[in-house]
Amino acid sequence: MLKRIFFIIFAVFVLLQFIPAKIENPQTDPTLEIQAPQEIMAIFKRSCYDCHSNNANIPWYAAIAPASFMIKNHIDLGRAWLNFSTWENYTQKEKDKKLQGIFRTVYAAMPLSSYISFHEEAKLTKDEIKLIRNWTGKAPF
Ligand code: HEC
Repeated sequence: MLKRIFFIIFAVFVLLQFIPAKIENPQTDPTLEIQAPQEIMAIFKRSCYDCHSNNANIPWYAAIAPASFMIKNHIDLGRAWLNFSTWENYTQKEKDKKLQGIFRTVYAAMPLSSYISFHEEAKLTKDEIKLIRNWTGKAPF
């Protein structure tokens, strides 16, 4: 009985691998990337770029279902909400909205806590949060 259950779990795992969830970094015109002071860029690259850019670091386990589904979902949604690599394609109004979003989310929501559990180094310090919030110029919006 137990053997059969293990076999079924294994078979499902194998079948899941056939569901496509390929994560790509699309080629992007580098002049579209956001411009910010170096210390701000360093924080974005360390803590946000894996989901909010076309320059994500894609770990080996992103190729294995079901982790691939979750990571692809984070990246697809993250890019759809805010893509630092194509920042200059946004209108001024959109940029203002995104800056407000950054001001609001760096306080606690971003980076996602599930991501921090795999990427301890992405966690923002109090000073970094302050630095980013000041840079957005959106307090209080
Ligand atoms: C693990 C992936 C991941 C990382 C890393 C990440 N985000 Fe996000 N972000 C998302 C996803 C997914 C969404 C879409 C909304 C949601 O699901 O909560 C999002 C949404 C957003 C939004 C729009 C939300 C709103 O309500 O306006 C902003 C702004 C944002 N992120 C900023 C950041 C910043 C700044 C960083 C780095 C400090 C960051 N994110 C790091 C995945 C991520």
